[in-house]
Amino acid sequence: MSLFCAQPKAQYLSHKSAIDTAVKRVLDSGTYILGTEVKNFEDEFAAYCDTKVGVGVSSGTEAIHLALRAANIGDGDDVITVSHTATATISAIELVGANPIIIDIDPIHFTLDPTKVANAITHRTKAIVPVHLYGQPADMDPIMDIARQHKIHVIEDCAQAHGAKYKGRRVGSIGDLGCFSFYPTKNLGAIGDGGMIVGNDVYLTDRCRRIREYGWDKERRAIVPGWNTRLDEVQAAILRAKLPTLDTDNKQRRKIADTYDRELGKMDIQTPAQRADCEHVFHLYVIRHQNRDALISHMKKADIYAGIHYHPPVHHHPAYSDRLKIAKNMGCTEAAAAEIVSLPLYPELTNGEVKTIIASLQEFFSERHHD
Ligand SMILES: Cc1ncc(COP(=O)(O)O)c(C=O)c1O
Repeated sequence: MSLFCAQPKAQYLSHKSAIDTAVKRVLDSGTYILGTEVKNFEDEFAAYCDTKVGVGVSSGTEAIHLALRAANIGDGDDVITVSHTATATISAIELVGANPIIIDIDPIHFTLDPTKVANAITHRTKAIVPVHLYGQPADMDPIMDIARQHKIHVIEDCAQAHGAKYKGRRVGSIGDLGCFSFYPTKNLGAIGDGGMIVGNDVYLTDRCRRIREYGWDKERRAIVPGWNTRLDEVQAAILRAKLPTLDTDNKQRRKIADTYDRELGKMDIQTPAQRADCEHVFHLYVIRHQNRDALISHMKKADIYAGIHYHPPVHHHPAYSDRLKIAKNMGCTEAAAAEIVSLPLYPELTNGEVKTIIASLQEFFSERHHD
């Protein structure tokens, strides 16, 4: 069987009975938009994240877009982030009319380098969007310190890090708002699109709730300009069915990552570093190798489809090149983009499949050794 970085169908099959029951419950209820499933899932996921409030939205991109809008960030404001991320992080910033200001990542953990923030701050800076990439928490303490010092917002991009912990705290509960995606391949994935904003600041979360539905109050008067970016009942019910096993799924991801670490550590490969005092949830297992294209081609022959997350960095995409404001030195971002490879990793990956992947890598290195 072909092996990919993620396998959403396997996720469905391992939760099939709970998901089928949940979908039927919604179909039978006759309420398909903003009913009890969304309300309950918002409460359950907010509690899981150790936050007071959750606001279900239609995607992770919309979660970031809406969070920035709720924080009154808009035309002409600057928002500091990274370009070693999904393009969605950048597009969400531009959706409010703000300018993404791109700084470099730290070379070890691939997340926003807090030592580079101070240089990028000007009177226009209104927020920082750290990305907890691959399931690894960004270094939040120094990011929060500098944000508080300059009275700017921190909107966490948690799209790849459901359940990850930074020094004992769940990601999403540290900044002003945390933004999640429930895209099907994510650690908590829907069967379609979905997203959520979590937080403790009632002013901000109330604004998110209002803006996600035309800016309405309870009487359906538009109090602030808004639009429609609701999470729907079917997706919420599916996510409720899967949430109870998120921690065991993440544990299984970490177990597979441990096996990779142990076996790949014997090869000429840089395995992923884990930030001290943090819990990485391995949305992706990303290694580095100087000849990554050859490595990917070799694995393909064994029906293993490794990925690249991401190449090129967002500032080199045609839509953004020559336009985004980037730091002078982007060396760590450029170097990582040229060498990264994501190996298949998801809770349903069997021991046999993990062995096949490791064997293919061993073969790659032994063939090179004999060349
Ligand atoms: C880091 C990151 N941010 C934002 C998003 C956007 O999420 P969505 O695809 O649900 O809009 C994604 C997922 O693609 C992501 O990986």
